[in-house]
Amino acid sequence: MQGLFRVAVLPGDGIGPEVVAEAVKVLKAVEEVQGPLFLFQEGLIGGCAVDATAVPLPAETISICNNSHAILLGAVGGPQWDNKRPEVRPEQGLLQLRQRLGLYVNLRPAKVLDSLVGISSLKPDIVRGTDLVIVRELLGGIYFGNPRGIFARDGERIGINTEVYREHEIERVAHRAFQLARVRRNHVTSVDKANVLESSRLWREVVTRIGRSYPDVQLDHLYVDNCAMQLIEKPTRFDVILTSNMFGDILSDESAVLSGSIGLLPSASLGERYALYEPIHGSAPDIAGRKRANPVAAIACGAMMLRYSCRMEAAAQAIEAAIERVLKRGVRTADFPGRSRPVSTSRMGDLIAIEVKRILKSGQQATHPRKKR
Ligand code: IPM
Ligand code: MG
Repeated sequence: MQGLFRVAVLPGDGIGPEVVAEAVKVLKAVEEVQGPLFLFQEGLIGGCAVDATAVPLPAETISICNNSHAILLGAVGGPQWDNKRPEVRPEQGLLQLRQRLGLYVNLRPAKVLDSLVGISSLKPDIVRGTDLVIVRELLGGIYFGNPRGIFARDGERIGINTEVYREHEIERVAHRAFQLARVRRNHVTSVDKANVLESSRLWREVVTRIGRSYPDVQLDHLYVDNCAMQLIEKPTRFDVILTSNMFGDILSDESAVLSGSIGLLPSASLGERYALYEPIHGSAPDIAGRKRANPVAAIACGAMMLRYSCRMEAAAQAIEAAIERVLKRGVRTADFPGRSRPVSTSRMGDLIAIEVKRILKSGQQATHPRKKR
């Protein structure tokens, strides 16, 4: 088993297990062509972990992740766990995992495929050509700041959360954004609320300073409210959007719908040592178990894993090209608007797996042409 790339598979709740199964199917299709590559090991996280072990991130899951090179996650949460105490909510499992593994940067690409411009809720002329990445800080800000809690004060209860950013937290995520811009279109837009928040004023100052080490990258700053507007007014103006945990959470859902379905987009959470890949969509409990979920985001997570964790760029591109080809043929799951006969979750996975094998095999022929003697 030595030499295999160890992948922790955490399907989670709702549609998580259905879509992650398709991602694994497609990675196994890559193995069919290229030989054994992965060792998959499953673990519990989120609501299913609360049900089985009383905590959203069991010790066994932590140790599986610690022993893995990368983690593939489905989704966490659902209404049946909404009334739990905050520390046993499914979402806590994910937040704790991000923290334990030091995953401080979250990459959320939003690309509009030409063949899908018609399904976006925005006009085709506005979304055509959109290709941006949100670089979201993932371990700081209001998600983790103290003081936090619900306290009694002056005869009533008050809820408190605190936005905190330390300089080094801003620096490390800013470096990632500028480095990413260098392999894209050399443009970073940093998003904050510096007209109101001190944490944002520090953010802007630090990002500007780090930006001086990347003179080839253009840097501009936007307030978050303005950015939210420009994302739907002129999404093609963006290349890399660098922002805080909370603003990134909100803007990434907004940018995800540009593509027509939130079911299409993957994300990567990276630290110095570990990497976790998860779809941007949530657990969608309303459609769970009904074969209606779109597995494309989860499958695209597999591609991101191959790119960032396995350094298998060709295989990553093969998966992305397979997704594009299958969608171009008009194959749709039920999340796409206006389809009377959608395919099931697993059918979509099958079709993409077949296409991946076809692409990889033709690539092998191209790189190892049979010589005529
Ligand atoms: C996301 C999700 C999570 C977040 C939740 C489930 C904790 O919304 O990954 O965008 O807010 O980070
Ligand atoms: Mg979110």
